[in-house]
Amino acid sequence: VIENIHALEIFDSRGNPTVEAFVTLSNGIVGKAEVPSGASTGENEAVELRDGGKRLGGKGVTKAVNNVNTKIAKALKGMDPHDQAKIDQTMIDLDGTPNKAKLGANAILGVSMAVAVAAAKDSHEPLYRYLGGTDIEMPQTFHNVINGGEHADNGIDVQEFMITPVNKTSFRDGFEKIVNTYHTLKKVLEGMGFETGLGDEGGFAPNLKSSEEALKALHEAIVKAGYKPGKDIAIAFDCAASYFYNKDDKKYHFEGKVLDDQQLSDYYDKLFKEFPEIISIEDPYDENDIDGMVKFTKSHKDKIQIVLDDFICTNPKLLAKAIKEGAGNAALIKLNQIGTVSETLETVRLSRKNGYNTMISHRSGETGDTFLSDFAVAVKGGQLKAGAPARSERVEKYNRLLEIESELGKGEHIATFPDSIDKD
Ligand code: PGA
Ligand code: ZN
Repeated sequence: VIENIHALEIFDSRGNPTVEAFVTLSNGIVGKAEVPSGASTGENEAVELRDGGKRLGGKGVTKAVNNVNTKIAKALKGMDPHDQAKIDQTMIDLDGTPNKAKLGANAILGVSMAVAVAAAKDSHEPLYRYLGGTDIEMPQTFHNVINGGEHADNGIDVQEFMITPVNKTSFRDGFEKIVNTYHTLKKVLEGMGFETGLGDEGGFAPNLKSSEEALKALHEAIVKAGYKPGKDIAIAFDCAASYFYNKDDKKYHFEGKVLDDQQLSDYYDKLFKEFPEIISIEDPYDENDIDGMVKFTKSHKDKIQIVLDDFICTNPKLLAKAIKEGAGNAALIKLNQIGTVSETLETVRLSRKNGYNTMISHRSGETGDTFLSDFAVAVKGGQLKAGAPARSERVEKYNRLLEIESELGKGEHIATFPDSIDKD
């Protein structure tokens, strides 16, 4: 049973405070977990409790830490760590708000993940096995290699340009292709006279003027690395369109242009035509622009994967609404948007049931914690985005996948794209 729970204020990859939670069982086993943090957050995400005031720019998490050490520790003491659903529900009830504002989603998620880690250890199983049993799969990985929007200080308004290895014999094989393309991209950008400093997710953040230029550089890098665009390596992007949506005139102010819904759709079409290797687009419209999103989905859902991130915030209720309205055909899954392991699993299940793909995701503020890698394998998430093959907090996730694959046997249980659609 759970003997003791405590938390510590630690720091994430952007140097911001975050929560580390420890769950100790009566047999001495300890599970720990570290909580990530986003920058381009959706309006309906569960609340990250931050201290405010002067210390650490108001971003301290001592209140959340204190909630773990007192209220949560007291409520969960003596409970069975293997009953994840009951533990998560106990914390949800204890909080009592719809968005975990009282205890903090950062406090609750830290404990929720640490409980799973402790229970896996108690079962003498790796976390992916404990959470997923035998029905597991290595994910199709998406690697953000050019950063823009909220994640970089440059002229690119699209937040993330990702590459994904569509032709591979194993995760390792695919990852090697990504690494080769990443290093080639650096040379391509240098050749164009750009700085190759890194953005928050390990991608380059060159001062390119437009998204089209970024795609051109990416296309060139894939070819120069010796791969066929679309056949070996495909491209995905996350527009995170709320970043360039103007709430007053309800138009998209995108890289010097002012566009309405239809004009934005036409612009995306131009990119899809010029770069047929684009297979997935995330948050192409603002999270409150339901009309734009539904129209775009109607005309594009059979041609391309349309991923909902800020639109649904990993919330099963918001996903149910999106499904009903006909928005998107894939769900982005971020544990800290909803705040417990159980609710995240519920959103994954709901997506599956309705034929939506799932892409499990890191946050732009990360730690060395690799819970995400095990989670993606365990839930047969199909897809995972965890940043570039650079910056330790990103690479650790991929190194963990290499470990898992070596345990499973090369080439087994590997997801492909677009076969990962509708697997169940
Ligand atoms: P975030 O970005 O972690 O800064 O929210 C990731 C995303 O928008 O997918
Ligand atoms: Zn996103």
